[in-house]
Amino acid sequence: MLKRTLVAAAAALGLWAGGALAQAYPTKPVTVIVPFAAGGPTDVIARIVGENMSKTLGQQIVVENVVGAGGTTGITRGAQATPDGYTLMMGHMGTHGAAPALYPNLKYDPTKDFEPIGLAAGTPILIVAKKDFPPKDLKEFVAYVKANATKINQAHAGIASVSHTTCLMLTHQLGVKLTEVAYRGTGPALNDLVGGQVDLMCDQIVNLVEQIKGGQIKAYAIATPARSPALPDVPTTREGGLPEYEVSAWNALFAPKNTPAPVVARLNDALSKALDDPTTRKRLLDLGGVVPEGQQRTGAYLGDFVKAEVARWSPIIKAAGIVGQ
Ligand code: MLT
Repeated sequence: MLKRTLVAAAAALGLWAGGALAQAYPTKPVTVIVPFAAGGPTDVIARIVGENMSKTLGQQIVVENVVGAGGTTGITRGAQATPDGYTLMMGHMGTHGAAPALYPNLKYDPTKDFEPIGLAAGTPILIVAKKDFPPKDLKEFVAYVKANATKINQAHAGIASVSHTTCLMLTHQLGVKLTEVAYRGTGPALNDLVGGQVDLMCDQIVNLVEQIKGGQIKAYAIATPARSPALPDVPTTREGGLPEYEVSAWNALFAPKNTPAPVVARLNDALSKALDDPTTRKRLLDLGGVVPEGQQRTGAYLGDFVKAEVARWSPIIKAAGIVGQ
């Protein structure tokens, strides 16, 4: 706590600006808290960009999975960490967009308690199901889900996660309530979808490409206006007759509030270099990730984007009639 206060005071006095400490940063490994299980979309994105950022920073980026409460446990821990650039977080549309509307007692404010570093990847949402789920296409899916809602299990990564909120949108539009099964992330949820223990999920594309291509799960639609080059055979929700269901997610790097500006700038630069690195880009694109470009890479853009996301998700969640945790 004392260290946190001293760092904050130093930052406020501008002692970091151009100073030796900032120039030397980082002198030891940097931890990135991923608030979901290993192997899921947020973890995969953190590891892909982190690997390249490590090279630029000359220090290892260590991913720490701190799971629970739809990602809000890990982000709470990160928000309260010493703001010295050695603890960062990979947040996303759930933790920094939907969470305030679902957790009235949330211990962080996505719009105030962070230094936004930059967007790491956009992640289109797909409606997927276990491979022997009966409907053949999206039209049949809609009819089947409406007729069999009480028998259907829907996997998600906890209240306010992307998979929870984006399926909330879907089930609200369809006028159904499914049985929800919460996991520590959609990595483990996907394992159960492949194993047939759960019926369906709304999930980020980067978690799904391999299993869809391999026929281990069924993809009904991608909820973006255009198909993804990573999954060219999967129709859009518009094509499939459900144009009102369009939603995308994103993952982004954040530092705790009062992390010195030169440190944040160094991290932003390393992230941007990672997104320009041909190997890193290819890995993200092959998984269907959308690589932020130009202005979208700035911390200022991310800060404004988070405000807009919090404002966007609040009425959607209220309309769905979900009571906060
Ligand atoms: C994860 O990494 O497991 C996800 O980002 C979970 C989610 O928000 O659906």
